[in-house]
Amino acid sequence: MKILVLKSSGNKQGSSNMLADAFIQGAKENGHEITEFDVFRADIRPCRGCSACGMSGPCVQKDDYERKLKGLIKEADMLCFVMPVYYYNWPAQLKTVIDRFYSFTTELTAMHKKVVLLTVAWDNTDTVFSVVEAFYHRICEYMQFEDCGMVLGGGCGTPSMTKSRGFVEKAYALGKAI
Ligand SMILES: Cc1cc2nc3c(=O)[nH]c(=O)nc-3n(C[C@H](O)[C@H](O)[C@H](O)COP(=O)(O)O)c2cc1C
Repeated sequence: MKILVLKSSGNKQGSSNMLADAFIQGAKENGHEITEFDVFRADIRPCRGCSACGMSGPCVQKDDYERKLKGLIKEADMLCFVMPVYYYNWPAQLKTVIDRFYSFTTELTAMHKKVVLLTVAWDNTDTVFSVVEAFYHRICEYMQFEDCGMVLGGGCGTPSMTKSRGFVEKAYALGKAI
């Protein structure tokens, strides 16, 4: 299976990417083909809402999304969303990727992609991931994605905190289980 890993943190060696690396290791050991794409470092502009695409046509913005990422998303069997929690929600970098589904929503919905979510937050409370999870499930439903699992790393505020929390191992296990 082709898995596209969408990293979104500014911290290359940060906590969310630690989960991504472990997931990738597990998935590679199972023979899956991995492509990594760093959303944070790409030129991806917000959807302008101009509707020139008509939800199924080229986007007027000729950035890294239109030139490269859209094609990678179409080719992938699975999308792996990797993100730090920002203000109890998805970071803008990754939310922008989702907003830009707009120009190929119909086509993408019909593809029934598999998806996983790897996320970290500083807090370790019952509610820290509630909005993140709700949005993920809603997007799975709307886009007809198949949810193949989540790792919700609470108490992962820094890489050293993350090392001792057991979520790196959980991300590896999720990759192995794919
Ligand atoms: C702008 C910003 C907003 C944040 N909002 C939250 C939050 O709402 N809840 C929380 O627990 N942690 C929050 N954090 C902490 C990060 O989620 C946490 O430090 C995470 O480990 C960073 O992941 P990274 O190393 O992959 O960048 C925030 C951090 C930043 C920079």
